[in-house]
Order: sequence, then C-alpha cells, then structure tokens
Amino acid sequence: MRDVVVAGFASRFGSEPTLVVRSPGRVNLIGDHTDYSEGFVLPMTLSLGTWLAVSPATGSRVRASSDRFDAAEFDLADLHHGGPAWTEYVKGMLWAMEATRGLDLYVAGNLPIGAGLSSSASLELAVGRAVAAAESRPWNAKQAALLAQKAENEWVGVACGIMDQMVIAAGRPGSALLIDCRTLEIQPHALPPETAVVIMDTGTTRSLADSAYNERRRSCEQAAAALGKASLRDVTVDDLSEARHRLEPELFRRARHVVTENDRTVRAAHRMSSQDAPSVGELMVASHESLRDDYEVSSPALDAMVAAALGAPGVFGARMTGAGFGGAAVALVDEGMVEPFVDHTEAAYRRGTEAEPRFITSPATGGVELLT
Ligand code: GLA
Repeated sequence: MRDVVVAGFASRFGSEPTLVVRSPGRVNLIGDHTDYSEGFVLPMTLSLGTWLAVSPATGSRVRASSDRFDAAEFDLADLHHGGPAWTEYVKGMLWAMEATRGLDLYVAGNLPIGAGLSSSASLELAVGRAVAAAESRPWNAKQAALLAQKAENEWVGVACGIMDQMVIAAGRPGSALLIDCRTLEIQPHALPPETAVVIMDTGTTRSLADSAYNERRRSCEQAAAALGKASLRDVTVDDLSEARHRLEPELFRRARHVVTENDRTVRAAHRMSSQDAPSVGELMVASHESLRDDYEVSSPALDAMVAAALGAPGVFGARMTGAGFGGAAVALVDEGMVEPFVDHTEAAYRRGTEAEPRFITSPATGGVELLT
C-alpha cells in the first residue's frame, strides 16, 4: 500500500511526497457501548488501514485526492462543510488541530467502508500524524485521539466515544489495549498464544446506526442520573439488583449491559494475560448475548454470523463488534484452525442469506506511524 499511495501522489502532483503515514483500522475484542459511559474497552489495531502521502505546500491551500473518491481543494483560512464526504474527516481534523500550513495529500486505503472497522477514525489520525510532522509539532497519541474525537463529534457531527481514536493513535503490535475511557489509561494485553483474530464482515450495512446510537447514549445518561451517578462507570454489578426497582425495565436492561460489559472486559483482559483463550471466548459470547438482548444493537445478520462461527471448528468465542446494526463480527480462533473455521462459518452463514460475507485475519499492528 505504501507504493500505491506514493505512486498515486506522484501521478496527481508530479513529485514525490515528503511524508508517508500508515494508520490502521481497528476491531474491538470486547467492551462495546461502554466508552461513552467512561467504561472499559479492549480493541486492537489491524493490518488493514489508511495510507496517506503528503507534502507541505506554500500558503494555506489543501489539495486532497484519493484512490477511491473524488478530489477536492480548499483553504485552511476558510474551512467549511461541503464537497466529497470523505474530505469532511480531513477538514474536521485540520480544523480540530488548527492547522495552518497548506498540504498536498493523497489517500489510499483497504478498509471496507461501513463495516464498522473505523475507516473514518483511521483517516482522521492519518491526517493528524501528517499535520504534526508537517508543522514540526510534538506527537502525543492521547492528545491526537482527543482531537480526532473532537473532529468527529463537532465537525462531522457523529457523537462517538473515544475508543476508536484512542486505539488507532496508541495501538501496540501483538496486543489489544485495555483502555479506561475515564482516565484514558492504557494497558496492553498480548493476544493469547496460538490464537488468531478473524473479522467476519456480514456484508450488510449499518442501517439506523446513528439515530439508535444517540438514543442508547441518552438512555445511559438517564439511567446514571436516575441512580445518582455521574456515569454508568460508577455502577457496580452489585448495585444492579437494587437498580432494578429504580429504573424502567428497558432502561434497566440498557444499564445492565453497560455494567456487566465493563466487568467482562476487565476480566477478559486478565484472562488474556493468563493466556486463557477459552475463558476470553466465553466472555465474548456473553458480551454478544448482552448486546443482542439487553442493549438491542445486534442485527439478524450479526446474530447469524455469530451462530455460524460458534458452530465452526477451532472457535473460542465470537461476537458482534463496534456499534452494531450490521457490519462486522469478530471471532477468537485456534491459530492452526483458521482455514476450516472460515470455510465452515462462511458456508453456514451463506445458507441463510444473500449477503456477501468477507473474512479477514489480522494480527494486532502498531498504531498510526510515519513511514520513511
Ligand atoms: C462506535 C463508536 C465507538 C464506540 C462503539 C461501540 O464504533 O465510534 O466510540 O462507542 O461504536 O462500542
């Protein structure tokens, strides 16, 4: 991909780029819909991602091109919305960073769009890393993640939490990151030995995801307020039995998902450290059930994919991942069994659907980086 992006840049701008950045996508192993309640998540970075070739330009013009989407040109002194949709992530990050130096940039990527593997956060952090280098600013992964989240929340207008930006900014090779979304403290946990992470794209898009996502966020705030807490992070599993009498049944189920998911996520991180893949797998399955039944953010396609995976050889566990409502699921699989696992899962999934699934095996790569 590095060669693709350099060649794309050269044919568009007629010179070699000064900087090349690689920014990964991400998959979350466990801990979904917890980040905006200041809870715990356990995501890892992927080998698929976004590559960005950049040269600083004189003045404040930005010329932006890509291998997949229309090109655009705009001025840093007069940033506004409009133009090809992908450039909103670029402009949002330039805006959040208060970038001043013009750029020529070319983007290439291999993340499926809309599959829930964070192609948008990957692009934001790619731009962030490039601007820091072009303007000789020190690189701080946490700060960059917060700026990318600001771009997404305030420029793009998506009310996401901090998980995606944080893991893409700070990912470590070979490890998932246990992120405390309250303190932004990070603990890398190596994947269990002789296991592989398989991403199972259902081939369905995430319909209604945005409005339902915002609704779920509101429910969490309401539940926390009704329990007299700043956020659901402060509610323990033991508090839950008492909470049952103080919340409407639906609100109670939403809160129960978040509280138990935080607990499962921290336990899964510890099980990873003790190299206990079967226990991690069990927690993943419990997470899927909670997202499906209590939080109600799964979909028939995600449920079918997870059921197919759980019937396949070599599987430790499987669950939907990310926001839900379609897109990808994730499985933890015996490393030596990936091929039969994928064959079996694919055949079983295809029996019940017209959708085109896609299976990706990826190690945990590092976070966003400059390639020289
Ligand atoms: C999306 C958001 C994240 C997180 C997940 C659900 O990916 O961008 O912040 O809330 O959904 O865990």
